[in-house]
Amino acid sequence: MTTDFLVIGSGIAGLTYAVKVAEAMPDKKVLVITKTVSDETNTKYAQGGVAGVWDTAIDSFAKHIEDTLIAGDGLCDKHIVEIVVKEGPERIRELIGWGASFDKASDGDYRLGREGGHSESRILHHKDVTGKEMERALLDKVASLTNISILNHCFVVEIITQHHLGYLVTKSTPNITCYGVYILNLASQEIEKILSKVTLFATGGNGAIYRSTTNPAIATGDGIAMVYRAKGRIENMEFIQFHPTALYEPGKKGQSFLITEAVRGDGGILRNASGEAFMARYDERKDLAPRDIVARAIDNEMKVNGTEHVYLDCRHMPMEKFMEHFPNIYEKCKSIGIDVSRDMIPVAPAAHYNCGGIQTDEFGLTSIDNLYAAGECAGTGLHGANRLASNSLLEAMVFAHRAAHHALSAIATLSETHTGPNGERIPDWDARGTTSPKEMILITQSVKELQMLMSDYVGIVRNNIRLERAMRRLDLLYEEVEALYRTTRVSPQLCELRNMITVAYLVVKCAQFRHESRGLHFNTDFPEKSAIVQDIVW
Ligand code: FAD
Ligand code: SIN
Repeated sequence: MTTDFLVIGSGIAGLTYAVKVAEAMPDKKVLVITKTVSDETNTKYAQGGVAGVWDTAIDSFAKHIEDTLIAGDGLCDKHIVEIVVKEGPERIRELIGWGASFDKASDGDYRLGREGGHSESRILHHKDVTGKEMERALLDKVASLTNISILNHCFVVEIITQHHLGYLVTKSTPNITCYGVYILNLASQEIEKILSKVTLFATGGNGAIYRSTTNPAIATGDGIAMVYRAKGRIENMEFIQFHPTALYEPGKKGQSFLITEAVRGDGGILRNASGEAFMARYDERKDLAPRDIVARAIDNEMKVNGTEHVYLDCRHMPMEKFMEHFPNIYEKCKSIGIDVSRDMIPVAPAAHYNCGGIQTDEFGLTSIDNLYAAGECAGTGLHGANRLASNSLLEAMVFAHRAAHHALSAIATLSETHTGPNGERIPDWDARGTTSPKEMILITQSVKELQMLMSDYVGIVRNNIRLERAMRRLDLLYEEVEALYRTTRVSPQLCELRNMITVAYLVVKCAQFRHESRGLHFNTDFPEKSAIVQDIVW
């Protein structure tokens, strides 16, 4: 199969980019690939909303920039922050133009929410299901463009580069080039080759490497792992954001339900087991301090009190307003016997977002030629050591737009043929020597081990011994799974496990290299911030 524009991922980043290139070049083919169904994305689960300077009578770009820089704890790229904050509102307007709806007050003005780290109310939202509404609007827009096709249930296994043509490719090879990808088509169970002129990775996050995460099961870091294996550059993977308030449900497996930070923005108060509103002891911004501070405070309260959760108290909030803004949360709590007007909500931190990722420039270009990255899988420099709430959807839209513009001009200069640097044919996937998987437990048990070790040793608070232990255990898992991969026919489960191990390795390696505590990375053996502020790049 060949295409002009190849897009891996159907979340906000992938779909925004697809719409833009398809509209600008109606005669070119745009192919979007997803590993499950089109709307099963992190995007769909976004609750709080999208940040943007909207009401310029009270808010300004300068304030949003400052809030982003403060949250990022000295590691944001200021130039990138300015780009995202200043271009963001235009991207939101575009999405509204494509049919997305955000809550308005009776006077017709948008209702702007507030979240941790924001000095003003600037979050546009659609009740507490903002992501679902954005994803819906994007999929509707995509459906209206005849030159976009979506291939569901196709798992991208590997990026095709010169390596597959027999060339030696190392991290220092100049002009590593992306020629497309190999996919496992789950309908045919065959590995197919898709050749493209330009490719965008919009493969989302990697919360699934932890036992407790707000992310859906698809968030296994595939894009980051594939780029790393293709010898592309990855940065700042130690900055895993734990959302302070995931609903605590004893014995729950898989995705944790999120209680959006907007609940605290509307007045929700965190309390410990004794009922104390403890945040005042940790930060003067109390419950609305940036996420790294709130998550660490909760973690400490849980450890000191020997509890598995703290509480979010909403009992004093006007219930009619609560139900209007947070109907989904209200219903979810009710479904497990929690009446938000009378009961406090048990909450605990859960892995939520990856602030680092595939290193990109200001146009979303990666270190691999013809390969762009946008959205959560990309390390753009916006978030630094900690992402400001609701800046992720914004970043995804801004960089999808920038990557689209860059790719549109780049494609005109690329050759019509899909061949290697010296005209070589791109080979088909070689599955010789592999047999059908015999025991699924080899994969499922390894996933559990991985999630356990990452949660126990590489969580909110880290130290050198824990990181060393994690690395030793990851080495063993790596060896076992690589042996399995070499001899077994590939399956999504095996590929995901392999990718999760690679991503976990990158998180631990970056954490070991950062000899300081900054933002989301807190190491008790290096509790201070270093005077040297630097990205860690692999
Ligand atoms: P995603 O939306 O995750 O899409 C990833 C896509 O990649 C999927 O289509 C998937 O199938 C595809 N894919 C991945 N690997 C492969 C593969 N190997 N082969 C084929 N396809 C593949 N951010 C905010 O700004 N505001 C919020 O209010 C907010 N709330 C959130 C609430 C929750 C519960 C969660 C989990 C996140 C929230 N975030 C929020 C973060 C934000 O939603 C995500 O960072 C963002 O949606 C990521 O979008 P994306 O396009 O990069 O990736
Ligand atoms: C939330 O609604 O609390 C999540 C917002 C985000 O991740 O930016």
